[in-house]
Amino acid sequence: MIKAIISAVTGYVPEEVLSNQDLERIMDTSNEWITTRTGIKERRIMPSDKAVTYIGTRIVQDLLKKSNTNPEEIDMVICATCSGDFIMPDSANSICYQSGLTEAFGFDLNAACSGFLFALHTASQFIRSGTYQKVIVIGAEKMSAYMNYEDRTTSILFGDGGGGVILEASTDSIYGIVDAVLKGDGSGYRYLNIRGGGSLHPLTEESFAAKEHYLYQDGKRIFKRAIRGMYEAIDEVMKRNQLENDDVDWIVPHQANDRILSSVAEHLNYPYEKVMNNIAKFGNTSAGTIPLCLWEYEDQLKKGDGLMLTAFGGGFTWGALFLRWAY
Ligand code: UT7
Repeated sequence: MIKAIISAVTGYVPEEVLSNQDLERIMDTSNEWITTRTGIKERRIMPSDKAVTYIGTRIVQDLLKKSNTNPEEIDMVICATCSGDFIMPDSANSICYQSGLTEAFGFDLNAACSGFLFALHTASQFIRSGTYQKVIVIGAEKMSAYMNYEDRTTSILFGDGGGGVILEASTDSIYGIVDAVLKGDGSGYRYLNIRGGGSLHPLTEESFAAKEHYLYQDGKRIFKRAIRGMYEAIDEVMKRNQLENDDVDWIVPHQANDRILSSVAEHLNYPYEKVMNNIAKFGNTSAGTIPLCLWEYEDQLKKGDGLMLTAFGGGFTWGALFLRWAY
């Protein structure tokens, strides 16, 4: 049986740091509030002339170098993003072009903060079916482009950056992606969205004046849903695969709020120190958070480790995916 294994991981964040202290200077907030309510201390901001294609290209170039892979070996690129360079065309095709992936095609996948999870599961199906051998899955965002820095409840959360993995075919039955549960509830669209600029609300003077081009979030309403969505999805994957807590060496959660992460761990009776966490440094990079965590924890991972990825985001979309680390 063919399985999809992760054979390389990397991450990219821009250099510019936007700290809580910087935010204190431009809005009515405090480092103390942001740190205690979210765990975030700083986030990274892309320069105005670079966006998701740039992040994705840097990620592909690094993955190829790190894994000694020729560009021609890559069959497909999926870029999970909700902040692509343009509404059309997608960013994945530009990333293929700019990285010299002459044999690959690509497409963007928009499942907001759950994007990387959805893209990884999608890519693994192409590999399991024998259709493709090597696929790059990216989660990359320039969320700062959609922040209203007059809205202190939301703009303090998000940052820019992302990461990616090479997913490849393996006939070794132990390692690789084992199972995933993906969920959606479209009624959630009203609580987390960027309305302006889409085909229902094209950019007009009115939509601009109404600030519809910014990300809107009803954070309080989403908070509890996110916790429940993540632990229920993890529970479903665990039950279906007869997994106990000891089989999961790491939970790799979407980084939205430190209090969400501790609450998910608590509901599962799972040790919090085994929950990957880099929210203090990068904030919420939407589809970027999970690969950024894998990248930062790569040195601590051992071959055979059980990793439970989980996310919740706009849509609503959410889910969990269990894999065994392959190197
Ligand atoms: O990634 C996609 C999915 N998204 C999420 O999972 C996000 C989920 N939601 C959250 O993480 C949290 O709900 C937030 C961090 C967005 C907000 O935290 P909260 O504990 O739910 O705060 P709140 O909205 O209930 O606000 C509490 C108080 C309010 O003041 P009053 O009404 O009690 O006087 C807010 O006005 O905190 C105030 N507040 C702030 N104060 C200082 C809200 N934002 C700020 C701020 N600085 N930045």
